[in-house]
Amino acid sequence: MSLDGPGDADTRVVRIYQALREAVVDGRLAAGDRVPATRDLAGQLGVARGTVTSAYDRLTAEGFLESRPGSGTYVADVVLGAARPTRRRARAGAVRPLSLWDVDPGPAATRNRRLHDLSIGLPDPGLFPLETWRRLVSTQLRRSRLEEATYGGRGSWRLQHEIARMLGLSRSVVASADDVVVTAGAQQAIDLVARVLVAPRTVVAVEDPGYAAVHRLLETHRAAVRGVPVDEEGLVVDALPPEARLVYVTPSHQFPTGVTLSMARRTALLRWAAEHDAVIVEDDYDSEYRYSQQPLEPLQSLDRDGRVVYVGTFSKSLLPALRTGYLVPPRSLTPALREAKRVTTWEGDLTTQGALAEFLAEGHHAAHVRRATRVYRERRAVVLDALSRLDEVLDVVPSVAGLHVCTTFRDAGADDRAVVRRAAARGVRVEALSDRYRDQPSRPGISIGFAGIDVAEIPDAMGRLQEAVLGSAGV
Ligand SMILES: Cc1ncc(COP(=O)(O)O)c(C=O)c1O
Repeated sequence: MSLDGPGDADTRVVRIYQALREAVVDGRLAAGDRVPATRDLAGQLGVARGTVTSAYDRLTAEGFLESRPGSGTYVADVVLGAARPTRRRARAGAVRPLSLWDVDPGPAATRNRRLHDLSIGLPDPGLFPLETWRRLVSTQLRRSRLEEATYGGRGSWRLQHEIARMLGLSRSVVASADDVVVTAGAQQAIDLVARVLVAPRTVVAVEDPGYAAVHRLLETHRAAVRGVPVDEEGLVVDALPPEARLVYVTPSHQFPTGVTLSMARRTALLRWAAEHDAVIVEDDYDSEYRYSQQPLEPLQSLDRDGRVVYVGTFSKSLLPALRTGYLVPPRSLTPALREAKRVTTWEGDLTTQGALAEFLAEGHHAAHVRRATRVYRERRAVVLDALSRLDEVLDVVPSVAGLHVCTTFRDAGADDRAVVRRAAARGVRVEALSDRYRDQPSRPGISIGFAGIDVAEIPDAMGRLQEAVLGSAGV
């Protein structure tokens, strides 16, 4: 309640009266709520106590308030007719977001604990070296370190340095610490790129099938998102819309099919970007886990023209919960991207960044990836072995990295969503490939995450999946 502005005592009484009356009428004050004591409210508002008392008297006379001797003044149980909004309705809110954000929250997500969870994209949290992490985080939680965290925009320089070192050693990504922008995961990295490069109706080409979370993000920046087909060599460069200014790709392990972008396509894509003055966003989200000697050099290391923004994340190599990723942009974009980061999240979470820098420096990240790769290699092999028993129905899409494998049905008319439902009924969670398409004609298939399931459980899970698949194929 504000009593700003000129006015005599009578005007002030009327303002207090009206403010309280409105609060009762629109439900902000409900029957039975206690209103402040006259002395307290007068003190808060800087008016004479008698002014408040006069307003309360009027409200009491009109039946909005009731005085309970020895206890205080309360909102009366006023009957205001059927149209009276309730407090609940007030909380539900009468205002709407822009139509772009008008989303249906849908039913609350439920996790069936009895399921064998073969969802894609989830590393095994049980492998994460929690004790080491706890030690490193607690080292960060010192007053002096917390006081260092100010409203800057760079984040941890030491983490930038360690990421540059890791990328140079393991991914032949050419970067110094100054080239690395630390973000809250790949999703924020791509959000920053969109802030800097996408205007309303900017055409952005994406792989189709592809990663819907990024497509949706780009749409919220009002990009015109166009799905481009993917074949056994990855993105079909010849099918790129010439007006695209940005191309979002997952070259090492295409999401979700798993194919690797061939060398011929890599060269063609870089050439295409140069000819069309476009930027390539390379999302290298899970290639730390490699199961072949085949080199998987990032596009960034082949880029001679400064067109590739390299994006990485610790969500797969460690855990999605850390919410830490990074960008390595061409230097022409670095200042803008740092500024985009500063205006959205300032430094980011310096405790996690500091702990992660030590984690990398002490060699725990490399050791963890080596150990987890051994575990995932075995799980992957057991899944592939089980899939080989379904080779009359399903083809496995060749892939060399990551945490999932994708299959396609030989029968292009198969109903993969029905298989997913049938699998769920048998206690197995998998994904339909057709759910990952947006503009291109969809192909039916099943994507299977192998990282989050214990190897001993895989035969049972795959046996159930086999029943679900064979049921749909009519075999
Ligand atoms: C293609 C792709 N990129 C990136 C990510 C990771 O995003 P973030 O780092 O925001 O967790 C995922 C996670 O599933 C993904 O599938």
